[in-house]
Amino acid sequence: MKPTTQYYKPLQIGTIKLEGNLILAPMAGYTDRAFRQIAMDKGANLAYAEMSSCEALWRGEKEKTQQIMAPYPGEKHLVLQIFSGNLEAVQSSMEHVIAFKPSIVDLNIGCPVQKVNKSGAGSALLQRPQELKAILSFMRQSIPKNIAVTAKFRSGWNQESLNYLEIAELALAAGCNMITLHPRTRAQGYSGEANWEYLKKLKETFPEAVICASGDLHSPEQIRDMFEQTNVDAAMIARGSIGHPTIFQETRDLLEHGSYKALDPHQNMYIAYQHYLLSLEYLGERYTINEIKKHLAQYARGTALLAHYRKLLVLAQTKLEIDTLFQELLSEISENIPRACTKD
Ligand SMILES: Cc1cc2nc3c(=O)[nH]c(=O)nc-3n(C[C@H](O)[C@H](O)[C@H](O)COP(=O)(O)O)c2cc1C
Repeated sequence: MKPTTQYYKPLQIGTIKLEGNLILAPMAGYTDRAFRQIAMDKGANLAYAEMSSCEALWRGEKEKTQQIMAPYPGEKHLVLQIFSGNLEAVQSSMEHVIAFKPSIVDLNIGCPVQKVNKSGAGSALLQRPQELKAILSFMRQSIPKNIAVTAKFRSGWNQESLNYLEIAELALAAGCNMITLHPRTRAQGYSGEANWEYLKKLKETFPEAVICASGDLHSPEQIRDMFEQTNVDAAMIARGSIGHPTIFQETRDLLEHGSYKALDPHQNMYIAYQHYLLSLEYLGERYTINEIKKHLAQYARGTALLAHYRKLLVLAQTKLEIDTLFQELLSEISENIPRACTKD
């Protein structure tokens, strides 16, 4: 296959220079310290933390915000995403955000969750351009220039109110260093298709801006096709990376060399184990038992052996149970791969 090297390229966001343009998207409940480190290890060039509430920071909910916003040891570029529909809350929380020493601060203009939208935040900001302008302008003015400011938004509230070009113009005028479009409407939630035509139109309209794509980037081939069709500068991978963090390296190989080594589902379980251990180390046992199983359910796919362990892993209630299941599974994989592949 023909290499498409021109799509994998260095990316500059404000003063932040990255070797490549493949980014782990922010995902609430997923992109914690452990998953970000795993994604970066497996070829991501940048990893966004999940969204944090300015109101929670303002109220001083230290434990919760620390959990979401702290970097992992050695995290080179911490990217924090905030959400709020209220300029005063953004103003009052900004010094706390900056105290984490992020490289980039992103504003969430896409979250479709009703509770978030009710407070005017997330995709509700698409309908409140004046408030949005005030928030982004404040962010750019109050955040030191060596920290980039970015914005991530949807194509509109619904199909009748597509306003992504207006939002992009506003964000760029406010001084955002990169804008990310997830070309689904708020009404679509996460269903239906992301419309890459809107990404193409966005890049045509603002050719000088740094534009990142999000939406339906679930395989290296889809990411290549999206670059080919839209000409945007970067790709943000979300659901396609859950249980499959090597998607970053695979995509890079496809774009640079024209082919890639397909995922070996059994080898993937070593990555799952590494992810589990990092989660225990960084986030503790209680958090890990609650949060890791949704990741493990996605890692453990592709063979009958994994299907068998998947059922057991999601039912596990204690660290000891998960440890024991991993020991059994990894020893079966390492000792007897042919038998493991066919076990029911
Ligand atoms: C579980 C989950 C949590 C998400 N949390 C966030 C978030 O905190 N901030 C944000 O901007 N987008 C969030 N998103 C949206 C993703 O970043 C991405 O834009 C979207 O999933 C589209 O990409 P995909 O179709 O490749 O999954 C979330 C998506 C999922 C599935």
